[in-house]
Amino acid sequence: MLYDNLSINDAGHLCIAGIDACELAAEFGTPLYVLDEDRVRMNCRTYIEAMRAYLPEGSRPLYAGKALCFKGIYPIIEQEGMGADVVSGGEAATAIAAGFPADLLYFHGSNKTDAEIAYGVEQGIGCFVVDNLNELEVLSREAQARAVIQRILLRVTVGLDPHTLAAINTGKVDSQFGVPIETGQALEFARQALATPGVEVIGFHSHIGSQIFEPDSFCDQVDRLLAFACSVRDELGFVAQTFNLGGGFGVPYVDSDSRVDIAANIAAIAEHLHAGCERAGYPMPAVLMEPGRSIVANAGVTLYATGGTKTIEGYRSYVMVDGGMTDNPRYALYNSAYTVLNATRAADVADFACTIAGRCCESGDRIAEDVRVARPERGDIIAVLTTGAYNFAMSSNYNRVLRPALVMLHDGKARLAVRRQTIGDLLALEA
Ligand code: LLP
Repeated sequence: MLYDNLSINDAGHLCIAGIDACELAAEFGTPLYVLDEDRVRMNCRTYIEAMRAYLPEGSRPLYAGKALCFKGIYPIIEQEGMGADVVSGGEAATAIAAGFPADLLYFHGSNKTDAEIAYGVEQGIGCFVVDNLNELEVLSREAQARAVIQRILLRVTVGLDPHTLAAINTGKVDSQFGVPIETGQALEFARQALATPGVEVIGFHSHIGSQIFEPDSFCDQVDRLLAFACSVRDELGFVAQTFNLGGGFGVPYVDSDSRVDIAANIAAIAEHLHAGCERAGYPMPAVLMEPGRSIVANAGVTLYATGGTKTIEGYRSYVMVDGGMTDNPRYALYNSAYTVLNATRAADVADFACTIAGRCCESGDRIAEDVRVARPERGDIIAVLTTGAYNFAMSSNYNRVLRPALVMLHDGKARLAVRRQTIGDLLALEA
């Protein structure tokens, strides 16, 4: 088993956090997103504890809600002592509706609308991560109109390709997010932000990518961010209180994927930053991180009912499931690999080589290719692991397929956190 919260019971069924997956499917229907709350908490604690141990006061992880945003996640994030990053008025409103403190929210987005900026300032959002000068102007106006000083971080791009170490990839400088250091524009951005009324610059933000396994990438990022901060200090006399390093730690989707030791990585980043600051005579800033995937991915499992198999002689076999790219577009978008099990026959030998196909009218609708599961019968429950991040969040109603329900598991019990969409929900939007 990929994870230790999975087991097999006497009936030969897959259990998630001790709960029979087939019973979950029978009670709540399929497709079904299942989220193990304790696993989410455990993932939060890994960050909280390591950041407390190795980084200065004021450092904290911010949950990147884009990975999985619904009301039920926010009390957990708050109780575990994390802040949260939101990328739209919709994510912000979800967190606020769940009672999450607005002052622990960090408002991201490369093209925030005027309405979103006004909403964020009005709600008392703790910090805006300002992406560009256009946005800065609107933010300044909205803050001044309310006579508040809005705290901001400036998003810069460090020009780093996390997948090819030490190589400066100009493609990364060429990004629609943030303002590049390399071209000198980030320094100008800082100059203008520092002279803008209604805002207080607390530091810099940079995010180098997602699903990153090489720890050195984050150390390179720290070096570049610190070098930039030093140039801002030397040119403009401004010293940052905070560095926000974004998200990005990778998670294993299949057995052959690497594992990231998050605590060890945080220790290494902290040591690196301490040493760099000491060398540069720069006061050690508080550090924020924005993990999304590594908080929720491995806490999620999707359950489907299979309509049976189809073998194309001489080619391959398909296992047809009652969801697909509408609840998980990641194979269609990124060719992502997943671990798939027949939850009904979890104790049987997984020797049926197949491709898991969804129900949409296009051949790209696949969940996984060339996997092996115990040969399913129509009605068997197929479990796809590691679907907690960027599945529910990226779901669609293509082909008018309805979005699945989401249940959370805790203390041996399942509770409905998001009900299944109905055709009435869809039709209600239409004239
Ligand atoms: N902070 C910023 C500014 C980000 O852009 C992201 C992710 C995160 C934090 C969280 O990164 P994480 O810890 O989850 O890697 N849809 C893609 C992933 C897109 C990630 C976008 N930004 C996928 O399904 O793999």
